[in-house]
Parts: sequence; structure tokens; C-alpha cells
Amino acid sequence: MATIIVTGGAGYIGSHTIIELLTSTDFTVVSIDNFSNSTSRSYQRIKDISGKSFDSLELDLCNNKELNAQLSKITDIVGIIHFAAFKSVPESVADPLLYYNNNLNSLTNILNFAKEKKIKNFIFSSSCSVYGNADELPVTENTPLKAAESPYGHTKQIGEEIINFMCKAFPELNAVLLRYFNPVGAHPSGKIGEFPLNRPNNLVPIITQTAVGKNSLTVFGNDFDTRDGSCIRDYIHVSDIADAHVKALNYLIENKNKKKSTVFNLGTGNGVSVLEAIRSFEKVSGKKLNYTIGSRRDGDVVAIYANNNLAKTELNWIPKFSLDDMMGSAWKWQQNLEAEK
Ligand code: UD1
Repeated sequence: MATIIVTGGAGYIGSHTIIELLTSTDFTVVSIDNFSNSTSRSYQRIKDISGKSFDSLELDLCNNKELNAQLSKITDIVGIIHFAAFKSVPESVADPLLYYNNNLNSLTNILNFAKEKKIKNFIFSSSCSVYGNADELPVTENTPLKAAESPYGHTKQIGEEIINFMCKAFPELNAVLLRYFNPVGAHPSGKIGEFPLNRPNNLVPIITQTAVGKNSLTVFGNDFDTRDGSCIRDYIHVSDIADAHVKALNYLIENKNKKKSTVFNLGTGNGVSVLEAIRSFEKVSGKKLNYTIGSRRDGDVVAIYANNNLAKTELNWIPKFSLDDMMGSAWKWQQNLEAEK
């Protein structure tokens, strides 16, 4: 059976993508995860939502020997979707080597496996953080990359370059690099969503945890040169991101990839400030959020949002969910988590 390997499949975007793969394709899925920031509960949730099964391996991709031993048992691998990575901007600023070691070793190991096994199709989780503080907004895929503001963003810049060089060196390898803007929200069922093991650093889980009294929200700066002084981001629903992966996979498999390694921006195109995001949450949840205004956070870019025309025309990808849908689904998920306890 044609198999897709999903690394980081128990994580936030990986788990939502497996649901899409199981419900809209005939591929066999094998998830690889070491549960460094997730648990195997995600797998049960995926199975409950999709009504389908899939295989999984507990494996640290930085362990090259183990990776080759385990993955060599899998036959007919059509593609690899590589999510597994650390993803916290502030953590990367505090501990750069943690990010360079983990994000780059895992990438070179899985690419080496792809090369050895002549796997043709590779999808990489990149990030809008590769643009740094761009001179012009919205950013297109051709906007020049400025210096990364954080080691996290730098690992994504380096990761993209490694893949580009690999695609040049090995003609059989084809890649799509997906630059996510800010993935948020939860599956519309509310039965799976972001579930960081450690204290979250991302805005939306902090908002929903604050609403149930489990966290406290500080807005990092209200003195930026933006319409209300807070940072601007392009929030994009995680299920729209998941859908884009299935479309990117089909694009590769159907040989539509003309450039060997193609970059796509995955954002809605709407810039939303931190304060606007908070107001959207308050509106859909009916809950007033207590928050304070704090100082700026190291590593943050001021404002970024996408021009997503390329993904629309080439991948036929249209984001479906509004900001209110993103906040509403994240809130539904948080409430379901509370009810589970
Ligand atoms: C960054 C990347 C994004 C990537 C994500 C992974 C950029 C521009 N974006 O998101 O592509 O998917 O990392 O983690 O680099 N904020 C607060 N208070 C909080 C938490 C956040 O005010 O307690 C603000 C931040 O300052 C920022 C916004 O909320 O302006 C979003 O922050 P966050 O959710 O952490 O994501 P980014 O760092 O923007």
C-alpha cells in the first residue's frame, strides 16, 4: 500500500494533517513521534474522529541509527511530511543550540533516509519567521528574506536551504516548503487541538487557558508601530493548514512541481493584531479576558501577513475558516479538555 510517513504526527499540525490524509486519501499513514511535546492520546483522538486506523513508531529522528533501522521496515513510501521540530520562538532565543541540534539533525537524518530510499516527495514545515522583519507587506514567496529574529526562524531558513540543495543534487527528490503563518484553532469537532505538554508560549492556547483560569495573559508590547500598538500576525486555522498538506502532496505526486523545490505561503492574507485576536475570542466565547500589557518579547517580528495567491492558484487551496472560527474552535477544544478531567 502506498505509504506516507508523517513525522511529528502526534503534534498539533501533524495530528490534524493525519486526519485529513485518512479522511480524504487512500494512503496508508505511518506517524513517527518521540512525544517530546505531545502524547499518544493524540493518536486515539485521530482514530475517533476519522474512524480510520494508522501505524505509529515512537522514535527520535535525531537518532539516525534507530531511524534507519525502524523506517527501513516500511515499504512503498510515496512521501514524507516532516513536521517534527521544536517551535517556540522565546525558547529558541533562550537556548539556541537546543533548536539547531534538534531541528537540523532531525531534518538531515530524515533527508538522508529519503535519499537512500529514493523517496520522491518531501513536504517541509517552514514558517513565515523566515522573512524576519520584511520591508514590505504582505510578503510573497519572492520577498527577500531578512535576518531571522530568532534561532527558531533561523533553523527554518537553514532547513529550506538544505532541502533546496538536496533537490538540486538528487534529481529524484521533489519538495514543497510550506511557510505557515500563525496556525491556530482546533478541529471543528472540538475533539482535538493544540495540546502542548509544557506551558504554552503561543498566544491562542494562552488565551483559552486564561479563560479557564489556568494561565495569565500578558500582551507583549503595545508600543509597536502598528494600528493599535500590538504586533500583527496572520492567524490561519490548523484545519486549513492540514488541507494544504494534502493538496501539496497531490501536487507533488501528480508531477505538477515545476521547480523541484517550491515554496508556498500558507496564511489568510489578513493581518490581525494581538488586541484584535483577544477581542475576537471575547466575542465568540462571551468571556471577558483579564490581561495585562507587558514589555516586548525578544525575537518577535513587528508585523507579518501573507500574500497567498501562489497557494491559491497552484495548489487550488482556499482557506475556509475566519478568525472567529479559529477562536471558537480553540475555545470548544479547551472546554472539551476541561470536561474530560
Ligand atoms: C511564530 C512564527 C509562526 C510559527 C510559530 C510557532 C513568526 C512571525 N511566526 O509565531 O510562523 O508557526 O512561531 O510557534 O515568527 N503574544 C502575546 N502574549 C503571549 C503570547 C504571544 O502578546 O503570551 C503575542 C506575540 O508577541 C505575537 C503574537 O502574540 O505578537 C503571536 O505569538 P505566538 O503565538 O507565540 O506566535 P509567533 O511567535 O508569532
